Amino acid sequence: MISINGILEQKAFTREDIITLLGLKGDNQQLLINKARKLTNDRIGNKVYFRGLIEYSNICVKNCFYCGIRKENREQHRYTMRDDEVLACARFAYKYDYGSIVIQTGERNDKDFVDKIEFLIKEIKNQSDNKLGITLSLGEQSYETYKRWFEAGAHRYLLRIETSNRDLYQRYHPSNEEHSFDKRIEALNMIKQAGYQLGTGVMIGLPGQSIEDLADDILFLKGFDVDMVGMGPYIEHEHTPMYLDPDLTLTKEERFDLSLNMIATLRLVMPDINMAATTAMQAIDPAGREKAIMAGANIVMPNLTPVKYRESYMLYEGKPCLDEDASKCTSCLIMRIKSTGSEVALGEWGDSMHFLNSQISDS
Ligand code: 5AD
Ligand code: SF4
Ligand code: FES
Repeated sequence: MISINGILEQKAFTREDIITLLGLKGDNQQLLINKARKLTNDRIGNKVYFRGLIEYSNICVKNCFYCGIRKENREQHRYTMRDDEVLACARFAYKYDYGSIVIQTGERNDKDFVDKIEFLIKEIKNQSDNKLGITLSLGEQSYETYKRWFEAGAHRYLLRIETSNRDLYQRYHPSNEEHSFDKRIEALNMIKQAGYQLGTGVMIGLPGQSIEDLADDILFLKGFDVDMVGMGPYIEHEHTPMYLDPDLTLTKEERFDLSLNMIATLRLVMPDINMAATTAMQAIDPAGREKAIMAGANIVMPNLTPVKYRESYMLYEGKPCLDEDASKCTSCLIMRIKSTGSEVALGEWGDSMHFLNSQISDS
């Protein structure tokens, strides 16, 4: 009989340990979650940082099989926010002392897009007196583009590996050069090399994905030495090829529970990283983000996107906050964070402690 408490006290974890932790249920799951939250408090504190999310455009050149805004979903109306709308969102974030924003879009690599993003980064930096931190989540780009945006003032970049299993990656993406696993790995390396703090993550409960695959995802994140992680449950979308996949065996609730175990287990394995309580958690459980915080997450991304665009940024079904504007989501999330016993951190970039620690040990 394996002692769960014994594993939870360890400092290093084998693949077998991780598989055991990911499978915990009931009281044992609660032990894992409590341990992860305590470790978070001890190692990086009980603050939760805000990143104001701006969903700048839903135009995407890619065709990931799971995603509602994939190029070939012709049902989807497409939009791009006007410059003044983006700048107003950033002003809101600055005024309410968010510390940082995230600019997210579908993927585009054309010159107009690259130039526009560079322009917006510079404007946001200017209008906030360089105080607002900028995270980008704009897909795979060339090294030159990453570098240009970094030099314009962005300092963190999110690009999920989605799954670290090469075969599964291929299964969830078209088989062409643009959706290659090797290219994705290369992109993650280039982002680091360009100077960004790197964030990545995976989807949890995908069709055909096993507990062993998820354990390998955790080992991948550790091996890649990432600074930030955002991960959450896979949720189906009607207008995608993966809808009604017969290999989708887990219920939404089971995917949610597994996501909590992933967050808590990753916290044990990487105690000083930043980890998001993702919106997809709240799409399944109304208290999903709070539960993620209780399991060791320390980042929340209130949605700042103007309400008129919200329903067009539907990566998956049931995305919450379609009618709630930026100030509603902000006050709602402050209340939710406080309900977990954590403190809302305002006016700070809230950089990953893992990144800061690695800078010290490098110098
Ligand atoms: N379910 C859950 N997450 C999804 N994403 C895209 N589609 C889905 C879905 N159906 C996530 C991917 C992507 C991020 C922007 O959104 O992980 O990297
Ligand atoms: Fe485009 Fe990202 Fe959706 Fe893939 S997951 S189709 S790259 S928006
Ligand atoms: Fe948007 Fe509660 S998080 S309204």
